[in-house]
Amino acid sequence: MGAHYNPAMNSQTDLVTLPDTTDHAQFVEWLRSVAPYIHAFRNKTFVVAFGGELVKEGGLNALVQDLALLHAMGMHIVLVHGSRPQVEEQLQLHQVESQFALGMRITDLRALEAAKEAAGEVRLDIEAAISQGLPNTPMAHARISVISGNFVTARPVGIVEGFDFQHTGVVRKIDADSLRQSLSSPGRKIVLLSPLGFSPTGEAFNLSMEDVASSVAIALRADKLIFLTELPGIPDEHGELMREMSLEEAQQTQETLDPEGEAASYLKHAIRACRGGVPRAHMVPYTLDGSVLLELFLHDGVGTMISYENLESLREAASDDVGGILQLIEPLENDGTLVRRGRHQIERDIDHFSVIEHDGVLFGCAALYPYPHERIGEMACLTVAPEAQGSGDGERLLKRIEQRARARGLNRLFVLTTRTEHWFLKRGFVKASVEDLPEDRRKFYNFQRRSLVLIKQL
Ligand SMILES: CC(C)(COP(=O)(O)OP(=O)(O)OC[C@H]1O[C@@H](n2cnc3c(N)ncnc32)[C@H](O)[C@@H]1OP(=O)(O)O)[C@@H](O)C(=O)NCCC(=O)NCCS
Repeated sequence: MGAHYNPAMNSQTDLVTLPDTTDHAQFVEWLRSVAPYIHAFRNKTFVVAFGGELVKEGGLNALVQDLALLHAMGMHIVLVHGSRPQVEEQLQLHQVESQFALGMRITDLRALEAAKEAAGEVRLDIEAAISQGLPNTPMAHARISVISGNFVTARPVGIVEGFDFQHTGVVRKIDADSLRQSLSSPGRKIVLLSPLGFSPTGEAFNLSMEDVASSVAIALRADKLIFLTELPGIPDEHGELMREMSLEEAQQTQETLDPEGEAASYLKHAIRACRGGVPRAHMVPYTLDGSVLLELFLHDGVGTMISYENLESLREAASDDVGGILQLIEPLENDGTLVRRGRHQIERDIDHFSVIEHDGVLFGCAALYPYPHERIGEMACLTVAPEAQGSGDGERLLKRIEQRARARGLNRLFVLTTRTEHWFLKRGFVKASVEDLPEDRRKFYNFQRRSLVLIKQL
């Protein structure tokens, strides 16, 4: 995506410089294609969580640049970082041996000191990365404020199966009100949380990054929880990456995974977040450059997404969909495939439309205009976004329009088409003539356009 985008800025015009006109066209096409997501994601809250491994392996700057872009697009971002490798380094430095039981670290006083130092170090690295603003980098003019604070209250894990976990804790409460205030305007800060929490008695506890992230996502009723993981995503039983899972499928998959493994741990917290009301949880590989952007702005994403509800929904349009429909049909109006309709007409006729939505973005639409006297209806504006074509959405929209037509007592459906004849012929339409159109429609038939009339018996 955007492979030809050259981030170098032209100092005189302050515009992006691109090598040739093919790239111009590609760039414009790409930028337009992300517009629906930008609209859909504005003011949405995303919790982005990653382990200290990402920082150690040098992935921080690229991630922060991508997050700065999302922030500039109006998304509210909470970052949660881990610091396991940094804690290990601190312990080694002080020649203290790590202790684990039941898959958790036992945090004695020395380990707690190491955890605090490690969290401080990672936090400073992240704050420094967010503060960059050099010209000729994607961070130029970014000026993002980042805030950390005592948003997380913790309690001790306690003694489990005879092991005293000491300063290892779990999240007890999140101060969601203060978090929301920090995230929203004016000020709109990025919130940065470390895997540490405090008890009401003032004690510090070492927490897991996954626990903090899922608890914050639930408390904020975040729209997305995104884990950046070392794994490419969650594999199915044949080892193939699963792109999307319902909550139910995620629960079934969890039972097949090694409970001590990383995939199981991420999945457990993703499931917890979805059950707690977060509509989507994603697991995305941090080793892939730009993976958060790819996951958010590509139809199929690049990792695994777990969703609380059925992702792709076919439904009747509502007034909120006018913008999305215009985005879909405008390129086809411009190239002459569809007859031009203005915003006003779409607004007026919105009840005629059915749409296909995927993760909050419209990918397809079609409209039914009934002529009840002649018991015939017109299907108009059938469109599926180019990136979603070829997977049956066009057919599903046609079926929905046929259903709506039957429900209104119509027994025939017609279309006027200039370029899609074969698609309709394959789906039961037959060629007809202008005389077969209902009278009111015949009056408006555009003889210059010379559209073919195709009719299907219902
Ligand atoms: C026509 C359209 C709605 C089909 O949507 P879709 O989701 O890709 O449809 P489906 O997945 O159900 O069907 C895909 C099949 O249709 C074929 N197809 C796509 N466009 C076609 C066209 N213009 N003519 C003939 N066949 C076409 C594909 O090759 C594919 O064939 P296959 O299954 O044999 O591989 C979509 O291509 C589109 O939006 N086109 C531009 C707008 C348009 O022409 N609308 C109709 C105006 S009257």
